[in-house]
Amino acid sequence: MKLLCVILGVMTIPVWAQAQQTPPAVVFEQACARCHETGTTASKLDRKALRKMTSEAIYQSLTTGSMRDQVPDLSGDAKIALAEYLGGKKLGIAEIADARSMPNHCAANPPLGDLAASPAWNGWGGDLSNTRFQPAKAAGLTADQAPRLKLKWAFGFPSATAVQGQPTIALGRVFVGVDTGTVYSLDAASGCVYWSFPAEAAVRTAVSIGPGPGGAKYAAYFGDLKANVFAVDAATGAQLWKVNVDDHPAARITGAPRLYENRLYVPVASLEEAMGVQPSYPCCTFRGSVVALDAATGRQIWRTYIIADVPKPTRKTAKGTQLWGPSGGGVWNSPTVDLKRHALYVGTGDAYSEPVGKTTDAIAALDLNSGKLLWAAQDTEGDAWIVGCPENNRPENCPKALGPDYDFGGSPILRELPNGKSVLIGGQKSGMVWAHDPDKKGAVVWKNLLASTPPPASGQIVWGGAADDLNAYYGLATGGVVALQLTNGERRWFAPLDPAAGLRGGHDGAITALPGVVLSGGWDGVLRALAASTGRVLWEFNTAQSFETVNKVTAKGGSMGAPGPTVAGGMVFVGSGNPGVRNGMPGNVLLAFGVE
Ligand code: HEC
Repeated sequence: MKLLCVILGVMTIPVWAQAQQTPPAVVFEQACARCHETGTTASKLDRKALRKMTSEAIYQSLTTGSMRDQVPDLSGDAKIALAEYLGGKKLGIAEIADARSMPNHCAANPPLGDLAASPAWNGWGGDLSNTRFQPAKAAGLTADQAPRLKLKWAFGFPSATAVQGQPTIALGRVFVGVDTGTVYSLDAASGCVYWSFPAEAAVRTAVSIGPGPGGAKYAAYFGDLKANVFAVDAATGAQLWKVNVDDHPAARITGAPRLYENRLYVPVASLEEAMGVQPSYPCCTFRGSVVALDAATGRQIWRTYIIADVPKPTRKTAKGTQLWGPSGGGVWNSPTVDLKRHALYVGTGDAYSEPVGKTTDAIAALDLNSGKLLWAAQDTEGDAWIVGCPENNRPENCPKALGPDYDFGGSPILRELPNGKSVLIGGQKSGMVWAHDPDKKGAVVWKNLLASTPPPASGQIVWGGAADDLNAYYGLATGGVVALQLTNGERRWFAPLDPAAGLRGGHDGAITALPGVVLSGGWDGVLRALAASTGRVLWEFNTAQSFETVNKVTAKGGSMGAPGPTVAGGMVFVGSGNPGVRNGMPGNVLLAFGVE
């Protein structure tokens, strides 16, 4: 019932659900699997291999190519849906989304300046500690000015329904990816578009900017939902390298690859817990991992699986489907770097099948250099869960002891306390915020359950919080934002933030902080600035409306529920639109705010 993964299912699952069509994953099982699974006539082209093809090539095969007569019963719409599902992108999107044909294509593309010289929000968490706190100088925006924020420009993403990539601000430019599989680079001041880049599937990661290889002064690094990592020239969008970091057919990258000193630390998650909804699926074989790549070439330096053991056959279902385990432990979040302890921290997801080990639903610490697992503090034990168990009365492949699906969605936040000790703070889908001690192998310092109501399907705390010197701030999917004292986890305030009339509330997306201000994008489409000391609303703006855009694309905002807003150089950027699993409002707009 609860699932992080389906929020991440982006355009596929929620849209099928709304259209009440048979989901393409099920169509594949019914119409293709008998030939296209391992050990069948076309097993050279199993799911894994089909996933490497483009939507266009698959569509061509189904309509005019050699598959035309194999699948006579499929409607035209079903073929389109299947091609887009397997291919990972909308048909024809490359042309539709191309920046070169946009009316606001930047007239000139001046050489990039010095990365350190302009205010930035680079990557997911704003800093190595993933605090999501922008200091005063880089923010260029004070609590006094926040009530005077005004919309400066809006940019429409052609054909997009979800803006789940978080805008990065660097070099006076904005870099952002969307569900059509396109990454854009825009001018932060005017919104003119420098370039667009077609990845191979939806892009949900934040983009990281750093020194580039091969003559590129700077590169933009990001991942897609086919588990590809890309480096492109930050000035032009020209591809420098691409690597696929996991060929499991369900593997995906949602957490931003973390760039630090010529290495990219890439978190790998998967949607396999949703594939398990089909009783004939041999659940499950994916293991989450962190992969360190050489930023110059994409070459793999190390890979650490969250679950050390290779999955083995476990039991067979009554219908004879072989089940596998252990599996799961996806890493949905961008790693946190701790230079003092030479460690890399991630939050891990649940297990999909039994047996369940000690590293799922945990905060895990890896050695920055070798990737060796230093410790894992497991906050929920024995949590094996797949989509549809047990509601569908479909017990064949459900874990015997079904867990609650309490992943860690957001990145762990590292903060130093006034007494010199440090805490690693993680928000869990259960609604619990945990502070672990990085000097004591993750021993629990404090914990606080933020809501007494049971978490909704998507989880109570999903994409994580922010922390300044005093407090950590977390949004709740059932509504409201909470401030917790860093030293002991005690609640300082709760802002209920009632949703706009007739709309569902909730703050699933990541929180953002700057001195005196907390920003949160709501499921109701309202972006709010709160006073960090009291939670009082300083400013709000309804993004769930139509906008006139600088690129003349028809655009509207919708729910916000994955990344958070970003702030740098006196401007606030937010992408709006997220169907998600909770019937969110789709949207396709990037909004830029500044103070008059
Ligand atoms: C009766 C068996 C059968 C069925 C059913 C079937 N395929 Fe195929 N398919 C094949 C064979 C055989 C090949 C050639 C494989 C090879 O070259 O190794 C193939 C090739 C393909 C190719 C490669 C391009 C091409 O045209 O050769 C695609 C794409 C493809 N199939 C998609 C599908 C999809 C999607 C479905 C379900 C809607 C499907 N197939 C159903 C047997 C089948």
